[in-house]
Amino acid sequence: MQALRITLCAATMAVAFAANAAEVEVLHWWTSGGEAKAAAELKKMLEAKGHKWKDFAVAGGAGENAMTALKTRVVSGNPPTAAQIKGPAIQEWGEEGVLASIDDVAKKEGWDKLLPPVVSNVMKYKGSYVAVPVNVHRVNWLWVNPELLKKANAKAPNTLDEFFATAETLKKAGIQAVAYGGQPWQDATVFETVALAVGGPDFYKKAFVQLDANALKSPTMIKSLETYKRIKPYTDKNSAGREWNLATAMVINGKAAMQFMGDWAKGEFLAAGKVPGKDFLCLPAPGTAGDYTFNIDSFAMFKLPNKDAEKGEKDFASAVMSTQFQEVFNLNKGSIPVRAGMDMSKFDACGQQSAKDFQTTSKKGSLLPSFAHGMAMHSATQGAYYDAISQFWNDDKMTAKQAADKLVAAAKVK
Ligand code: BGC
Repeated sequence: MQALRITLCAATMAVAFAANAAEVEVLHWWTSGGEAKAAAELKKMLEAKGHKWKDFAVAGGAGENAMTALKTRVVSGNPPTAAQIKGPAIQEWGEEGVLASIDDVAKKEGWDKLLPPVVSNVMKYKGSYVAVPVNVHRVNWLWVNPELLKKANAKAPNTLDEFFATAETLKKAGIQAVAYGGQPWQDATVFETVALAVGGPDFYKKAFVQLDANALKSPTMIKSLETYKRIKPYTDKNSAGREWNLATAMVINGKAAMQFMGDWAKGEFLAAGKVPGKDFLCLPAPGTAGDYTFNIDSFAMFKLPNKDAEKGEKDFASAVMSTQFQEVFNLNKGSIPVRAGMDMSKFDACGQQSAKDFQTTSKKGSLLPSFAHGMAMHSATQGAYYDAISQFWNDDKMTAKQAADKLVAAAKVK
């Protein structure tokens, strides 16, 4: 009798569990070593809430391929539960009428108090939360292999002049100075960082946030483009089309000394068992120590067909904002938590510096949205900026003036 009761009870529980369990399909592009480790933490946490994780991973840095796959799915009326959609693109999807409000979760958990307005405003469509933020990535970093610098007797650079001097010293010593991945989004990542160093935060805002034609054709822009192109002789012949994580692997394995990249690169160093400050250095990109280009990952939520699916979606959103997730995910991803009041003691010096600089730059007006990572402009405008910059990088006959003119035209694309 007792045994039967236990069996029945277990069976009822299983049914109850199944009724509330949902399949949560999540589109993302976290497929490199460090990224996949971080994504695995998200899966684990969701499964701990009783749901089933359905992976919708589309490889390709910065998510261009993922966005194409997403459009196909949404157009065919079969969206995933959540998708990695960031910045102004959240508004673009909101306008399509396909995003779901998660205001009830946000209100219950007090997200308005846990997120800085620069973040919460972006997560809302017409005043309602439709997305949950995951992290804050800093883009303007330089990743350095200190052993190679030592070998060449070269200095870790703080300014652009020092950077070119170091690159030259390395080159003379027969060491590959720069690890580079020639893909449009990576070109834009390096370019925005160099332009920030050349022109400073006010110029950056005019050129990449306000899309100001005068800034785009100014002598400062010409100098930014020329300075960017000066990096090319320090890259290798095989850089065209190279994925960012393979470029990072060159720095990890001592094949190249430096890489301009956001701190998802740190996830690769850590996944390879490397120790910051010893095996690799994270330096603010030369000439940008007082500035911070931010890139915030977030998941937008889609309208779903039934209550169970919605429950899964809300549990997913709540898991992402939990302190537990914000810590473990970001320790793996290279980013820092986006949620206020987090204990940073488990984070390394790069993470702690990022958290500190996020605060200070926010107070002095040099916290800037990364245009290369979808934080600053309409996705179509961004695509046109990418084209201008990549064409300039690849076509050695194109002048900086021609590239600047292309940027002025790009600013009008929408
Ligand atoms: C995303 C990161 C990702 C990187 C490389 C960025 O745009 O924000 O999460 O790791 O692209 O794919």
